[in-house]
Formats: sequence, C-alpha cells, structure tokens
Amino acid sequence: MKHVTDIQIRQYAVEFGTRQIDVQTLALPDGNMVTSPPAGQLLTFLMKTLGASRVLEIGTYTGYSALAMALAVPPGGRLVALDASEEWTAIARRYWQEAGVADRIALKLGDAVASLKRLLAEEGEATFDFTYIDADKENYDAYYEYSLRLTRPGGLICFDNMFWGRSVADPQDHSVETVALRNLNLKIRDDERVDMSMLPLGDGMTLVRRRS
Ligand SMILES: C[S@@+](CC[C@H](N)C(=O)[O-])C[C@H]1O[C@@H](n2cnc3c(N)ncnc32)[C@H](O)[C@@H]1O
Repeated sequence: MKHVTDIQIRQYAVEFGTRQIDVQTLALPDGNMVTSPPAGQLLTFLMKTLGASRVLEIGTYTGYSALAMALAVPPGGRLVALDASEEWTAIARRYWQEAGVADRIALKLGDAVASLKRLLAEEGEATFDFTYIDADKENYDAYYEYSLRLTRPGGLICFDNMFWGRSVADPQDHSVETVALRNLNLKIRDDERVDMSMLPLGDGMTLVRRRS
C-alpha cells in the first residue's frame, strides 16, 4: 500500500477513529504542540474505562487535551490543570466555557514542579485516578516521580511525546530534551513500581499503571 501516504492514513484515523464535538475541532490549533485527536480520543477512552473522576494534567496549552478528558469526567469529578502560561490558557478557558465543562476544571498557573509540590502538600498522596503529562521534556522525570505519588495505586499516568519526533532513536541526537526522554523511557521500561505500554501513537505515547 505504498501509494497511501502517512498523512492520508492519519487523516483516516481522525475521521474514523475519533468522535469530536464541534468545540473540540475549534480548540485544535495548527502546529505540533497539541495532543493529536486520536491520542485525545484514547485519553477519553482510558478515563471512561478506568472510571476516572479525579484527573491531573501537566501541560495544558490551549486546552485541547484537558477538554478531551473533562468531557469524560463524571458529575462531581474534577480535573486539575497545570500550566505556566496565562496567555495560552486564557484561550483554553474560553473553549472550556463553550463546551460547558469549565466548572469541573481547576487551572493552576505557575511552574508545574512548584504546583505539584503544593498539590502534594495540600491534597496528599494518591489523590488522582489519572494523570496526563505533556509539558517541558527536561522535567518529565520530576513529573513522573510526583505523579507516582499523586496517582492512586491502579491509576494511570500517560506521557505524550515519548518519541520526541523520533529523535530518541537517533544515537547522534544529544539534545537536552532527547536525552531526558531517552533516559526516562529506559527508566520506565525497567521500573518495578509500574506496568507500562509504549504506543507508537502520534509522537509516542507511554501508558503507565501504578502497581502499589
Ligand atoms: C505541548 S503543550 C501542552 C499541550 C496540551 N496538552 C494539549 O494537548 O493541548 C506544553 C505546555 O506546557 C507548558 N509548560 C512548559 N513548561 C512548563 C513548566 N515548567 N511549568 C508549567 N507549564 C509548563 C507550556 O506553557 C505549554 O502550554
């Protein structure tokens, strides 16, 4: 099937592999900062499978992935979204309002490591069912360690961009982000605290289940 291009099969996956409400389509800006629609669909699916009602997102940007997850949060549930950018998350807030899910999202602005430290102090361990990590790559290992404490046993932690544009498999690439993700991929693969699965979805998505 060499005449079917990567772009065509990705478009097919969006058309037949996702269910998006109108505002989700609008909330999808151009560019590669945003979680892909099939990955957003997977987040929604995993949350419903797990029955997740307490959700943590690290890296929110214009709110697309948070919207995908907030739509799956049952009544009484909540999503805590962490991001440093007031500018980008102002756009997110508008889409959340439009989709009718703003009341279940608590946005915390500031450096995510500091916010995680505060969350742990204020809310304690094992507070969340589901955590999605999609912020600066150099801090992914710190986000992983905080998430392992904040996510309950049996809960899921999901990482986006674990291929980092395929550079993790390029031995010539020694950029800070690539090395951080390469080290984390190795750490997660061998980490006895979790079950794991790396999916070649979008830019590489790794799912981790906290064991105990
Ligand atoms: C890839 S974007 C997130 C995309 C979003 N999950 C989505 O799918 O629409 C990364 C976000 O992480 C935020 N970010 C980067 N470094 C951060 C830090 N140290 N603390 C908090 N947020 C950070 C950026 O402001 C940006 O909005």
